[in-house]
Amino acid sequence: MATTLEPLKGGYDVDENAIRFSNYFHVLRELVHLSCGWLALEPRLEVKYALGDHLHDDARAVSKIKRRLYELRTPSDYPGAPAEELAALLDRANGATSSAEYVAIAYGELKPTLAAAIRIHLDTLDPIIDEPSLRLLNQLLHRQERHMAELPATAKPAFEDLGALPIRLREVRELKVMPLLDEPARDDYVEVTEEGDTYLTDELYINGDENHVPTDPEEQKHFFHGLMDAELCAAELMARNSHEHPDMPWDFHVDMARQCWDEIRHAEVHDRLMATELDCRWGDFPIGFSYFKSIYRLDLLSRLVLFNGTSEQKAMWRHSHRRKVLIGLGQTTVARVFDYLLADEVPHVHNGVRWGSHLLGGDEKAYREKVRELRAGLDATGQPA
Ligand SMILES: [Fe+2]
Ligand SMILES: [Fe+2]
Repeated sequence: MATTLEPLKGGYDVDENAIRFSNYFHVLRELVHLSCGWLALEPRLEVKYALGDHLHDDARAVSKIKRRLYELRTPSDYPGAPAEELAALLDRANGATSSAEYVAIAYGELKPTLAAAIRIHLDTLDPIIDEPSLRLLNQLLHRQERHMAELPATAKPAFEDLGALPIRLREVRELKVMPLLDEPARDDYVEVTEEGDTYLTDELYINGDENHVPTDPEEQKHFFHGLMDAELCAAELMARNSHEHPDMPWDFHVDMARQCWDEIRHAEVHDRLMATELDCRWGDFPIGFSYFKSIYRLDLLSRLVLFNGTSEQKAMWRHSHRRKVLIGLGQTTVARVFDYLLADEVPHVHNGVRWGSHLLGGDEKAYREKVRELRAGLDATGQPA
């Protein structure tokens, strides 16, 4: 049976193709870096949710682009610096003085510019010769379109075709790190106090026989409200870990981005649970940042040891215990939440082992010793004694 075959189109040559991907790399890498920097400082809960989700998509996109660059004969670790025009746009994103200003540039300029270039790329490439790029770009474009739909901004694409900008080989663009923050930002309707919600007792956070599982409606309201804030703080800590340590290997940033998204999702789960099962709302009780501050003031290794390697590791026992008690009481939905929190905690604890060991020259034993050493300074609830 005779078939009519479309002739090959030709599309871009390998070098032009690699230059296009190099430009996308720069935009996405800087979006991840800056969204990680601003996440904690963004007060609007819905925007914080979106940023935490999108920065994870963008981090994975960077990994895939690095892989494609390697396939296209470009050093995949760093493809050379962006041209002056793109550097100027990225500098403007770095110069934002508020989260709202950053979001307007990221979602109004960087993402629309990237999406426009990807559309040109898809229209021009040869879908047969360059099928790997076709597949990757389709995925990238769908994600960017979702991001722009979820955080709509006035679209002002900065260049007609970002992909056509030249790359300055052998030059490097350094990432700029924002100043350390005092504490995370919350919507105005959330009351932040020194001591947080005084309804929450130590027994809720102790492992072993003395642990108290919140089972009655009033205590569950307070418990999940406090847990939702703890999830937001966890997302914010992971995001700042990434932002403040741009020299760590790229996989570290992907792991931090994933954990950030997980913690954001956990906050959204508690948000929903409170509104639909517990008859309360985010903002009903005060919150406090003393635990966040006790971790945030530390260096990266100690943050990983005390947050991932201790707090999250110990929370696994409590989630499992809470789940069993609640199943026994027939509270299956609340129990299911703990089942998933427990599952997600496994890779989070592993992030501590993986990157803590990395910081100790790959010595996992040294990491375990550091965990023992720093745990000695904590009380039974895991707070610094
Ligand atoms: Fe969590
Ligand atoms: Fe976690």
